[in-house]
Amino acid sequence: MLRFLTAGESHGPTLTAIVEGLPAGLPLTEEEVNHQLRRRQAGYGRSERQQIEHDQVIFLGGVAKGKTTGGPLALQIQNRAAVQTREAAPVTIPRPGHADLAGALKYGFDDLRLVWERASARETAVRVAVGAIARRLLAEFGVRLGSYVIGIGAVSATIPACPEEELWGLAETSDVHCPDPVAAEAMRQHIEEVRQRGDSLGGVFVVSATGVPPGLGSYTHWDRRMDARLAGAVISIPAIKGVEIGPAFENARRMGTQVHDEIWIEHGRLMRPTNRAGGLEGGVTNGQPIIVRAAMKPIPTTARPLRSVDLTTREPATPPYQRADVCAVPAAAIVGEAMVAWVLADAFLEKTGGDSLSEIRAHWEAWQRNE
Ligand SMILES: Cc1cc2nc3c(=O)[nH]c(=O)nc-3n(C[C@H](O)[C@H](O)[C@H](O)COP(=O)(O)O)c2cc1C
Repeated sequence: MLRFLTAGESHGPTLTAIVEGLPAGLPLTEEEVNHQLRRRQAGYGRSERQQIEHDQVIFLGGVAKGKTTGGPLALQIQNRAAVQTREAAPVTIPRPGHADLAGALKYGFDDLRLVWERASARETAVRVAVGAIARRLLAEFGVRLGSYVIGIGAVSATIPACPEEELWGLAETSDVHCPDPVAAEAMRQHIEEVRQRGDSLGGVFVVSATGVPPGLGSYTHWDRRMDARLAGAVISIPAIKGVEIGPAFENARRMGTQVHDEIWIEHGRLMRPTNRAGGLEGGVTNGQPIIVRAAMKPIPTTARPLRSVDLTTREPATPPYQRADVCAVPAAAIVGEAMVAWVLADAFLEKTGGDSLSEIRAHWEAWQRNE
């Protein structure tokens, strides 16, 4: 139903996206997109680039008088750190863990900058902008999203048993985006120690969505399963290497009766006392909050370099150090929200259909009446 494409390089003049398939009549302001862009830029452990950039979106088409028109929505974010890289000396030593070597082998480049300029996670800024539009659509129907960090490097948080919204609120007050203040302090210290050692960190975050109606996605085909679609979207974020739906790896170590969420009737309504399935059964949303966990590998660019090879001379060589985040897990969590919002909005439109918000609302109301 929905699709988007992005264009632009890390140090090019702008990042651009075209979003297609949005209904007409969705209220949308640049400021609500900018709010999400600011959230992505925050977080302890990021490089000085975040002080240079003040990401702001410009709508170039598809929005008129504060509402979507139903046409393709074009948007742009300027790169303040734009530089003329074409004249810079070519880089020939790939950084382990980055796209440098694989990208050069694929495209036959002799300057690795051509790889890293597009492979860079700077592109995730424009994904957050696109995700902000998806979450705006979902908000019209009571779906909300948030995220929190549950681990950075060797430090794991203890997550209190409270509603997802409360965890989002706690995370929002933390510069490591973690709802456990004791762990948050340990995470900050860990990031500092690792920074001093010229090294980097990854971690684990949770993206959750509440108010998601049952019945999005389908078990009827592999590519209609929401778990597959969510996992694919989240793992498409640079450096995300693992995705779980609910506590999937922990569930795998337990017995069935300790894992599966029982079904009750309470005051005439279907109830699930637990949500270890992360809101999905058979690839279909079951009305419980969607819980997606993602594992981010440590940032590949490290001040203390790993061994590499100069692709021109074929001799051992040290990769150049480029300004880099020591840890970007809090920022990646915001990008995760954007990708989850995108997949949910797409599935929501599949279910409700409609070319305008009012048409979708009419379909939504009919669907709710039949529940
Ligand atoms: C929000 C965010 C910020 C990132 N910042 C950096 C960075 O400053 N330096 C770096 O080398 N990698 C950074 N990465 C990770 C790389 O972009 C990523 O590891 C690289 O493109 C290779 O892709 P892969 O890890 O998916 O294989 C960041 C990733 C995200 C999601």
